Amino acid sequence: MRLSLLTLVACLGRLVAANPLATDDQRTLDQYALSLYHSDAFDTLRGIARAQYIKTLKKYHVPITEQTSSDVDTAINELVFSSIQKSVNADPANPRVYWVDTASRTHDWYGLHVVGGRYSYDNPDCIYRLIPISDKYTYKIHGRKFGNGVADFSFSLISNPNSQNTVHALYGKDLQVNDDGSYTITISSSHSDAPNHIRSNGKAVQLFVRHNLGDWATETPDALRVEIVDKPAHPKQYTKKDTIAYAKQNLRESTFFYGFGALDFKTYTQPVNHPKSPEQSQILGTLTSQAQSFAPFDLEDDQALVVTLTQGKSTYFVVPIYTDGMITTQPDKRLVSLNNKQSFQNHNGSYTYVISKQDPGVHNWLDTSGRKTGTMMIRWQGLPTSGDGPKGIHVYPQVVPFSRLKDVLPKETRYVSHAQRQKQLQERVQNYNRLHYQ
Ligand SMILES: *[C@@H]1O[C@H](CO)[C@@H](O)[C@H](O)[C@H]1NC(C)=O
Repeated sequence: MRLSLLTLVACLGRLVAANPLATDDQRTLDQYALSLYHSDAFDTLRGIARAQYIKTLKKYHVPITEQTSSDVDTAINELVFSSIQKSVNADPANPRVYWVDTASRTHDWYGLHVVGGRYSYDNPDCIYRLIPISDKYTYKIHGRKFGNGVADFSFSLISNPNSQNTVHALYGKDLQVNDDGSYTITISSSHSDAPNHIRSNGKAVQLFVRHNLGDWATETPDALRVEIVDKPAHPKQYTKKDTIAYAKQNLRESTFFYGFGALDFKTYTQPVNHPKSPEQSQILGTLTSQAQSFAPFDLEDDQALVVTLTQGKSTYFVVPIYTDGMITTQPDKRLVSLNNKQSFQNHNGSYTYVISKQDPGVHNWLDTSGRKTGTMMIRWQGLPTSGDGPKGIHVYPQVVPFSRLKDVLPKETRYVSHAQRQKQLQERVQNYNRLHYQ
């Protein structure tokens, strides 16, 4: 009886809120991107990207085992696809909403086998969508929020799809939504104090939209549609040749921004097994609503990295674990990330995680997926943009022998049985599939 009622509720829920990611534009763009991916146009650049990643890892004495090598290959293939995905929807006179930066969607997605396109430090909680923009035109983004919406979201106008460089942004808390959940955002180069307006300029090329889901079972990203208001009669045509050239440019830039910038400069320059408390960002006085902590890990089979952290003023945070290629491993099936809503909280409001290869039997386990080395990027979002955002956020890491875990974990730690772990993992798969398959 209970089961059938649940099934009914699930069916109704589906009717009311069909997956907002399963659109015709998504299918068309995925199809086009895949056709370019399966050509040989990117073979040379793929090799250069691979060499850059390996060079960085060797510089920091990371042993290039068969596992590491295959992790880098996987990451580079996804980097190539992401560069193409950023290019097939790059015409600001013909804008579409395109969901990108996902792990592979290999079944039941309009019959397509969509390969992964995660380019650097994917967040399994996050739905990323991009819309091409030019300051020559005026756009309306028609949005629709479902229920109470998601844990955190933002609309960033960026000047480079690879390094981002935000021109202007509209943050979740500032978005004005009608009673029925609908809203309209305008984007143009004109100045306006009207709500939900984002001002573009000559540098802006893309609107990058992030929806972070805290509770995967109930939160749904907004439905989005883009309208160009004053489309010119004869806009420049984007040919296949243009698209390939742009994808190559993206791949070259990505190789630098991620292979050097993210992997080397941001991550491997940090102490091993020691994620630090995030510092206040003062880059050119920009406002920050996000703080992050990067670190490489290197753990023996009988070791665990115990990390206790505080939430500070953030509304949302997530602790994801990556391979040395900076992508998560099977984010649907493995515990490679936990956000604040998915985690067990200590009595004093902090959170404690065990990062290890072996299952430690605690709720807050982060699985290294059999890897000895890899990386992490902890992030806190929804921070006040006044500048003292990261204040009150602390990270306390400690490497301990696996056998001594009980001695260092808080008394209140939630331990899980084998059956409870199976349930936690089953729910993860089910909730992930709700959005990632059609
Ligand atoms: C909060 O609890 C954690 C886990 O027991 C502990 O490690 C930490 O020191 C506590 N923080 C404070 C400020 O007492």
